[in-house]
Amino acid sequence: MIDGLPMGVPAAGLPRRVRIHEVGARDGLQNEKAIVPVEVKAEFVRRLAAAGLTTIEATSFVHPKWVPQLADAEQLMPLLAGLGDAPETGGAGLRLPVLVPNEHGLDRALALGVREIAVFGSATESFAKANLNRTVDEALAMFAPVVAKAADAGVRVRGYLSMCFGDPWEGPVPIGRVADVSRRLLDLGCDELSLGDTIGVATPGHVTALLTALNEAGVPTERIGVHFHDTYGQALANTLAALQHGVTTVDASAGGLGGCPYAKSATGNLATEDLVWMLHGLGIDTGVDLGQLTDTSVWMADQLGRPSPSRTVRALSHKES
Ligand code: HMG
Ligand code: MG
Repeated sequence: MIDGLPMGVPAAGLPRRVRIHEVGARDGLQNEKAIVPVEVKAEFVRRLAAAGLTTIEATSFVHPKWVPQLADAEQLMPLLAGLGDAPETGGAGLRLPVLVPNEHGLDRALALGVREIAVFGSATESFAKANLNRTVDEALAMFAPVVAKAADAGVRVRGYLSMCFGDPWEGPVPIGRVADVSRRLLDLGCDELSLGDTIGVATPGHVTALLTALNEAGVPTERIGVHFHDTYGQALANTLAALQHGVTTVDASAGGLGGCPYAKSATGNLATEDLVWMLHGLGIDTGVDLGQLTDTSVWMADQLGRPSPSRTVRALSHKES
């Protein structure tokens, strides 16, 4: 280790670069008991951008009663306007996707000039009902006009799929069912899929088996991102399995913030710092400054009044103090 950085020792068969889809401001903060002031959220996103993250999921345009923590989406997006603008016009060219469940949410997002959205489906009926008050089929029917209208407006669409590995109500989720709903999300017109291990129960062999099944169902690896929660400490091992399969988009949450308000057994997402430590150790480029990112998570932990659960944040911040 040199100055808080891992020694870079590449391993065969891995991508040279990984795009981190940062979800701390959305998946992380949606699960905090405290409502974080909108200025603090904006500062969080600015600091994440300054640390080199290029895709930062900002918020959700869902019903404010369902997720009160993100009810300030209308106030937040204007505060981030400059960051999303193209570099030619003086902006940072940042990708700032937002979650949108239905046409109402899309209209709210479009009114604020959002250029990238994510719809969020479920592989299981129980979570579709708990999270969207819909069956799986009804949720896909709700997304269809959203994806079509977004495409007409030139807005990029990510399709999240939750409970891809296990579900707190239904137990293990059959791989064939996940492949089927994934295919249907892509057929709606989603540009990219993100496979969610919402409650963190996946293990590496399961990841490889699911990715292989998706390929067989006609979903190319280039269009797949992975979204691991770290409940059982498996998120990095699962990420490595996905990288070995050729995945180059990995979701993570600064400082390991997160969980899901509608799945009680979900704990934090894979911490971005833990991910960056592993990727840089493997010689994989992310564009992220690990020191600056760690400082950001320490700052955010202070705002929330509790320490970050990320091992890397703890190790690096103890080293400094
Ligand atoms: P519903 O109660 O069925 O809504 O909820 P509805 O369609 O019957 O409409 C009821 C009222 O809500 C109406 O108002 C609508 O206008 C209003 P009224 O006429 O009664 O005055 N409404 C809205 N208001 C603001 N924004 C909207 C909106 N839509 C309807 N977009 C609904 C359905 C989808 C709205 C609700 O279930 C909801 O908001 N769910 C969001 C849940 C959520 O955000 N969960 C967390 C994100 S998913 C996640 O974290 C997993 C992920 O990280 C991946 C992983 O880890 O697996 C992505
Ligand atoms: Mg999540």
